[in-house]
Amino acid sequence: MGITKICCIGAGYVGGPTMAVIAQKCPHIQVTVVDLNEARIAAWNDKDLSQIPIYEPGLDVIVGEARGRNLFFSTDVDKAIDEAQIIFISVNTPTKTYGKGKGMAADLKYIELCARQIARVAKDNKIVVEKSTLPVRTAEAIKSILDNTGNGVQFQILSNPEFLAEGTAVEDLLNPDRILIGGDSTVEGQKAIQSLVNVYSNWVSDEKILTTNVWSSELSKLTANAFLAQRISSINAMSELCEKTGADVSEVAKAIGMDSRIGSKFLKASVGFGGSCFQKDILNLVYIAKSYGLNEVADYWEQVIIMNDHQKRRFSDKIVQTLYNTVSGKKITFLGWAFKKDTNDTRESAAIYVADDLINEHANIAVYDPKVSTNKIIDDLNYLETRTAEKNENRISCFTDPYQACHNAHAIAVLTEWDEFKTFDWQKIYDAMQKPAFIFDGRNLLNGAELKAIGFVYHGVGA
Ligand code: NAD
Ligand code: UGA
Repeated sequence: MGITKICCIGAGYVGGPTMAVIAQKCPHIQVTVVDLNEARIAAWNDKDLSQIPIYEPGLDVIVGEARGRNLFFSTDVDKAIDEAQIIFISVNTPTKTYGKGKGMAADLKYIELCARQIARVAKDNKIVVEKSTLPVRTAEAIKSILDNTGNGVQFQILSNPEFLAEGTAVEDLLNPDRILIGGDSTVEGQKAIQSLVNVYSNWVSDEKILTTNVWSSELSKLTANAFLAQRISSINAMSELCEKTGADVSEVAKAIGMDSRIGSKFLKASVGFGGSCFQKDILNLVYIAKSYGLNEVADYWEQVIIMNDHQKRRFSDKIVQTLYNTVSGKKITFLGWAFKKDTNDTRESAAIYVADDLINEHANIAVYDPKVSTNKIIDDLNYLETRTAEKNENRISCFTDPYQACHNAHAIAVLTEWDEFKTFDWQKIYDAMQKPAFIFDGRNLLNGAELKAIGFVYHGVGA
């Protein structure tokens, strides 16, 4: 089947950029991205491209090229479903906050709502693509809903997980390591797979497009995130041992990374990984393993999260201990709040947890982040429900000028590895700080030797 119309439900970090790239690379396909969130859709349609709701390097140019030509953002979900031959489901699948599996299992209520809506609206055969990250065997549930509540039309379910990382989304989408498509082995299933392969082959070479059965595809996504996060927890575990023994974790990472079997990527010790997915997906994996009675498998992966929580707590503890065991009433400046550089996303950012710990110790936190708004920072803290919103607001102040943020501070903590922090006038910052002037570099971003020469007391991670 020649695909001419695609719809994507969910205009978030995945749906927006992924569909923008499909539209750019496939001018013959009309791509409509729909969402219930009117404000988000309005922002995607903003004439001023700097106002689109997701900051990703290069995304504004792609949206600018395709929007209005063959890329559309709309709140009319029914119409888009009705017209499309392929429907991507790219809605959020957060960790459940209630009921059975609370705090671990993926909450699939948004997925089910999409399935029911597709079933109700579809009047001809559709290919439904799981783009969201889902527990293995979710396609079975989606198929059951579609077949039992639909209008007698045929549905093919494909799994096509997304592997983009935020901050490099456009680059990752344009040059993916692989595209994974899982589908049924039936003739109709294979036809559906081929339809989706044909979309991607407009810009991705054949050898990078991998097709599997549905369950392998669903489970590969959770496995990839678990392996990636495990590497970070592994190097972070070593960072603590380095601090005790005089080894330097950057040197250790370099030494082991040169072994081609280990590889050099994803070995950067840090204040702990954040982001919307690593923790959520590993907890989901742990829950699935437990539900099959595989307790050793569950415990093995849970340790990745335990180590990450420990790393975040260790960082805040170190600040308190180094500042003579009290930060009460002291100004601690956070450089960065986003969970990594080049994104305005703060979900599960280590900064939130470190700030929460330090506020418990009555510190005053000043924040400078080039892309994150004050409201977002306050909302992130309020979401933890550790204290009242008013108390959070009294303890947090946000700045648009880094020098003001650092003025009179007792300590600076680097929480995000924004490149611009390296170019600051550190002498000027030092001169305006309380002494001793401490820096806790949670990203090993800055040049410790130069800062020490200025007079700072510099602490990196793992050295
Ligand atoms: P997001 O929260 O940014 O976006 C999801 C959007 O779906 C929201 O705008 C929400 O309003 C919309 N939505 C929810 N239910 C809806 C419904 N019934 N109808 C219409 N719209 C609805 O989430 P995201 O970060 O884009 O993640 C989406 C999925 O992709 C998740 O499963 C996630 O695990 C996975 N994923 C995310 C990333 C990432 O980098 N963020 C990368 C790979 C995979
Ligand atoms: C991650 C994966 O890299 C993507 O492949 C996947 O698609 C995505 O999750 C998802 O499923 O949501 P993302 O979370 O956007 O992407 O960003 P990463 O680059 O993986 O960084 C995650 C966290 O780990 C960040 O807080 C980052 O600072 C931290 N990190 C990363 C380290 O502390 N050390 C490293 O060496 C690498």
